[in-house]
Amino acid sequence: MRNSSQIENAVKLLDNDELVVIPTETVYGLAANAYSEKAIEKIFRTKNRPSNNPLIVHLVSAEELHTVSKNIPTNAYKLADYFWPGPLTMILEKADHLSPKITAGKETVAVRVPNHQTTLSLLKALDYPLVAPSANRSNHISPTTAEHVKISLGSNTPFILDGGPCARGIESTIVGFDNNAVKIYRLGAIEPEEIEKALGCKVQLANHTSEETIAPGMFTKHYSPGTPFVSAYEIESEIRKNVGKKMGVICFSSPPSLIPEGCVLRKLTSDGDIKDAAANLYQVMHELDLMSLDLIIAELVPYIGVGASVNDRLLRASSK
Ligand code: TXA
Ligand code: MG
Repeated sequence: MRNSSQIENAVKLLDNDELVVIPTETVYGLAANAYSEKAIEKIFRTKNRPSNNPLIVHLVSAEELHTVSKNIPTNAYKLADYFWPGPLTMILEKADHLSPKITAGKETVAVRVPNHQTTLSLLKALDYPLVAPSANRSNHISPTTAEHVKISLGSNTPFILDGGPCARGIESTIVGFDNNAVKIYRLGAIEPEEIEKALGCKVQLANHTSEETIAPGMFTKHYSPGTPFVSAYEIESEIRKNVGKKMGVICFSSPPSLIPEGCVLRKLTSDGDIKDAAANLYQVMHELDLMSLDLIIAELVPYIGVGASVNDRLLRASSK
């Protein structure tokens, strides 16, 4: 079968300290053997990622948790049970043997079990976990197709396990623990309400403007296209201000009342489904970013469910 020979090839490369691009349900990852320092260094070089930005460890199942972390809070097991495989990343105390290159010298490690059949088959075939950041150049838009990876990494693109477009299309939600209390550090594919349902209690959002910014990847400027980018709830006035420019407009589901001639319009969803909007976001951003436009104007989406995560990315993309 084509798929199994692709996986065999990926295993061979990873065993030899090479990188492989892996599909996940969120975004494509740039993966390396978590126990090969040489391979981990290649991730940072390939993405041009600052070495102080730690990596997520991808496990085949929650049973492996104790191999990479220690003193695991009971709520972590609860969340793993409820969400894995799936788009929840947990920050835990790191196991002593883990390379500081993974954790950027921190005493914690980020872990998740991705929910994509191809990558789960790959992880089953390996006798080590994979570390994988999103497979884009540092600070650019995350890739949700193999094509996006090639555009972003160019000639540095390693072998790609193509698993089709990513179903969720937005990164995992990242949570940390204060003793057993859960805090959200990155909004993502899982909405806070779902986490509260799983735990039966309220969770807090970390305040990113304070010392609670725990990793450089959480800095404001992130996920940005090369094209100047503006986001707003009311986009008509932004469009009016910019008539005459080569404009791309991203709307949630109904088009704005003003669409100047030559303006390229993209909808995130045709029926107002917020999960659909999240799944299409990066695809639409990539597409418009390739069109040599003067400006992209994006409408912020309703602040419900995963809409908060979509708005988080749109606001970061438009921050200077
Ligand atoms: O959906 C995802 O999470 C994707 C797929 C490939 O799994 N991965 C991903 O990785 O988004 P990356 O590297 O692009 O984002 C991981 C974020 C970064 O902001 C990093 O700073 C943070 O996780 N992180 C990793 N380890 C951490 C740690 N020990 N403490 C705090 N933050 C950490
Ligand atoms: Mg990333």
